Amino acid sequence: MEKVLAAIEKEKQLAASAAVAYIQDGQVIGLGTGSTANYAIREIGRLVQQGLQIRAIATSRKTQVLAESLHIPLIDSNGVDYIDLTIDGADEFNEDMVLIKGGGGALLREKIVASMTKKQIIIADSGKKVEQLGLNFKVPIEIIPFAGNYVINRLKEMGGIPSIRQLAGKTFVTDQGNWILDTDFGHIKDPRSLSQHLDEVVGLVCHGLFIDLTSQIIQGIDNSTQTIFRRSN
Ligand code: 5RP
Repeated sequence: MEKVLAAIEKEKQLAASAAVAYIQDGQVIGLGTGSTANYAIREIGRLVQQGLQIRAIATSRKTQVLAESLHIPLIDSNGVDYIDLTIDGADEFNEDMVLIKGGGGALLREKIVASMTKKQIIIADSGKKVEQLGLNFKVPIEIIPFAGNYVINRLKEMGGIPSIRQLAGKTFVTDQGNWILDTDFGHIKDPRSLSQHLDEVVGLVCHGLFIDLTSQIIQGIDNSTQTIFRRSN
C-alpha cells in the first residue's frame, strides 16, 4: 500500500535529524538540495541559532536562499580545499550505493560538492531504495544548450530516450544556465560503464549517476531510521 504523504515527510525528517547529529563544531558543511535536504537545513538553522559554529556551502540557489533565511553562514566553494560533511538527498539508490540525483535540477553543484566532501551522508525516505536502478526514474543529464542536438543524438546511440526538461511550459534552465535531458535508459545494469560513456560526451556537463561518492545512506523507515554504510568504510 502507498504510504500517505505525512508518513513520508516524517521519514525524511527522521533521516535528516539523524544525519545532522554527525555535524561537529568548526566543520564546513555541504548543504544539499530538495525536500529531504531542506529538513536537514532547517535543523542546522536551529542548531546555529543555539550556537553551533559551522560554515556551509549551498548546492543550489534555492538552498542558498533557505540557508540565508536561517542565518546559516555561507561561504564560497572556492574558499576551501575540502568539505567535511555533506548532507543531501537522492532520487533513487541501489544496494551498491549508486545514486540517481538531479530531480531538483541541482546535480552539477551537488556532484562538485560531493567530490569535495570527505563524508557524504544521503538522506531519504523509505521509497528511494530500488532493486533496479533507472526503471522508475530517468537519469538527469545537464548539458550546454549549444550542444543540445548533438548530445541528444549521442544519448540515443547509447540506447537512451532523452527529453528536454520543461517547467511551467518552458525549458527548465539550471542555476548554471544549462538544460537538463531526463533520459530513460530502462534498467541500468552497469551504472559504472554508463557513467564512463556519458562522461566522454562533449557538451554533456554532468549526469545524475553518483558512484563512489557516498559514505552512508540514512533512510527513514516508518518511525525509525536505517543506515547503510559504504563497504570500504
Ligand atoms: C536535487 C536532488 C535531490 O536530492 C533529489 O531530487 C531528491 O529530492 P527530494 O528530497 O525532494 O526527494 O538530486 O537535484
